[in-house]
Amino acid sequence: MSLDIDMSNYWMPFTANRAFKESPRMITSAQGINLFDPSGRRILDGSSGLFCVPAGHCRPEIATAVGEQLRKLDYTTPFQFSHPGGFELANKIASLTPPGLDRIFFANSGSESVDTALKIAFAYHRANGQPSRYRVVTRDLAYHGVNFGGLSVGGMMKNREGYGSLLPGVVHMRHTQTVKNSFTQGQPETGADLADDLLHAINLYGADSIAAVVVEPIVGSVGILVPPKGYLQRLRQIANQHGILLIFDEVITGFGRTGTPFAAETFDVRPDLMTMAKALTNGSMPMGAVAASTEIYDTITNAAAENAIEFFHGYTYSAHPVATAAALATLRIFEQEGLYERAAELVAPFQHAVSELRSLSLVTDIRGYGLLAGIDLATDERMGQRGYAVLRKLFEAGLMVRVTNDTIIMAPPFVSEVAEVEQMVDIVKAVVTQL
Ligand SMILES: Cc1ncc(COP(=O)(O)O)c(C=O)c1O
Repeated sequence: MSLDIDMSNYWMPFTANRAFKESPRMITSAQGINLFDPSGRRILDGSSGLFCVPAGHCRPEIATAVGEQLRKLDYTTPFQFSHPGGFELANKIASLTPPGLDRIFFANSGSESVDTALKIAFAYHRANGQPSRYRVVTRDLAYHGVNFGGLSVGGMMKNREGYGSLLPGVVHMRHTQTVKNSFTQGQPETGADLADDLLHAINLYGADSIAAVVVEPIVGSVGILVPPKGYLQRLRQIANQHGILLIFDEVITGFGRTGTPFAAETFDVRPDLMTMAKALTNGSMPMGAVAASTEIYDTITNAAAENAIEFFHGYTYSAHPVATAAALATLRIFEQEGLYERAAELVAPFQHAVSELRSLSLVTDIRGYGLLAGIDLATDERMGQRGYAVLRKLFEAGLMVRVTNDTIIMAPPFVSEVAEVEQMVDIVKAVVTQL
């Protein structure tokens, strides 16, 4: 069944618009780990939407909280005024972040969270008497969203090209994927020394010109690159030695993807700033946030005159009451249903099932950690061609995944049963075998 709808006016994001409009993949309802197309056909959600629906779709608890909030207080300005929910949510998030990373600034997306974190880093050094620190060190193949700050510190060529000079002073380190570490389950044993690229940047530009180093603890959108053992620790150590702030972009890894609330805890490395979004509202409302250390918050706020605004940044919808209600309801579900623990229990069966795909001749590498897996397929004539074909065929076969270039990315909801994640992987196997 197709929907009788004019598709010409919606310019779709990160989509092959012409191809989609020729042959649309529409979803009209969802429940649990299932999506349904207009004919009622079931499609398994193998990527938790875009990594943002770990608790399953259409949770009544969130719908009720959102409805009640809309009837009670739909909106109030977040500048110089507020509402209790913002404080309640900040307290809740602070109880989940690593100790000391407890000052929460709200945004509306991952991209806004990244730009906010960069601005906080600059504001901190300025308030701390080091305004010369303006460079940001980042990594090849990083994805930090699409706003100009995040784009500048991103490392995906297609996303960057064509948008001018971007932010000045961005230095890219090498990414951590090496052929030697192909088909490694979990963290590679070798590669920690790649963190010394930060030292290289310091030696080249001087530490006193570097504000921050920003990394995704596990690189997500480009295809799940897992940090080698000791790599994040080494970055932390070098950053500490040189007064550089460490920013973890936990937009994907935040809220349980690695089996604990944040990858910072999983890898036992405490950053100075941490971004989050996506799963914070279980995908039901746009919301992002930055957790900053108490020291950063105190330094910035104490540098301003009494009664003066301390940080000239914020959004009309920062801590939006309805998104806040959705986030509080989401985090209650996490607690009541033990979703961090449930995610942790699902990791071994999920990774085991995915690892079986290595026998397929088209599979050239598999990387995985927590409930994240990247499966590389041999490139066809043109990069991305096979990936697009597989995306369409998987959808026809009843599975939605994320595909970047020729890499299939799986990130099942935490509420999936073992048999369901096995079924997802079986669909991948059947489709890739027939390519
Ligand atoms: C690590 C990371 N940072 C930032 C973003 C951008 O988030 P959004 O699409 O909500 O702006 C993403 C999105 O996938 C992401 O994976």
